[in-house]
Amino acid sequence: MKIIRQKKDLNNLISKVNSFSFVPTMGGLHKGHEILIKKAKKKNKNTFVTIFVNPKQFNLKSDFNNYPRNLKRDTKLLRKLKVNYLYCPKYKDIFSFKTKNKIYMHSFSKKLCGKYRPGHFKGVLDVVNRFLELLNPKYIVLGKKDFQQLTLIKKHIKKNKIKTKVISCETLRDSNKLPYSSRNLNLNKKKKLFASKVFALIRKEKIYIKRKKIKKINFTKLKKRIFDLGIKKIDYIEAINLNTLNKAYNYNEKFNIFSAFYIDKVRLIDNF
Ligand code: PAF
Repeated sequence: MKIIRQKKDLNNLISKVNSFSFVPTMGGLHKGHEILIKKAKKKNKNTFVTIFVNPKQFNLKSDFNNYPRNLKRDTKLLRKLKVNYLYCPKYKDIFSFKTKNKIYMHSFSKKLCGKYRPGHFKGVLDVVNRFLELLNPKYIVLGKKDFQQLTLIKKHIKKNKIKTKVISCETLRDSNKLPYSSRNLNLNKKKKLFASKVFALIRKEKIYIKRKKIKKINFTKLKKRIFDLGIKKIDYIEAINLNTLNKAYNYNEKFNIFSAFYIDKVRLIDNF
């Protein structure tokens, strides 16, 4: 695996390698990333991974500081997965050039995480757009756990007529159905189990809505049960229609329940 740190080395490489699949990451790699990388490999045997903890997508300085970083461990995993190129850029190499494309923020960016993390999606779209302009990959591979991010990136790519094709991956979960996430590295075993219990309650609610043919979906009681379990902060629990991206009210819509809550200072999200 070739590790690139300098922009001139990147430009040199890009002029030689004409087609590859791209997996953007912020490091803290886990089994979910492994799935993304394996899918990227299937699409194109040349795979390109970036590790860059993008400060612009963190609305809280403390969250940025506490984000898990372990480049040594990450590099070892990427080597094992036979990734061809790893780019670990410097801040100024990403943010100091003028972009061709304008960031397109679809109105879905105002909902869910967009409501609770001001500036987050602008930061995500900015960095992803810059990577796409720098690398011009054939494919970009992203996970469905971050469904809102995935959707907004797709919309931005379409609007700007960027040629890169978006490949999405199902969410990988552990034996307790907790989705793999870099932030889980900040939770001990007991807290991970606690998180999976909260998600299990939400999962049960979806089954209940379908079975009882609920026509006015409402999560007030569910939220109370979650607080009773010991959770102190819920950002949101919402049913979203996956076709319209609006709130879903009726059991017969095609919806997922999206949730974001905190275990101590660790913010967890999922949708199913
Ligand atoms: O999901 C992430 O890891 C990040 O938001 C991404 C897509 C790498 C952009 O910084």
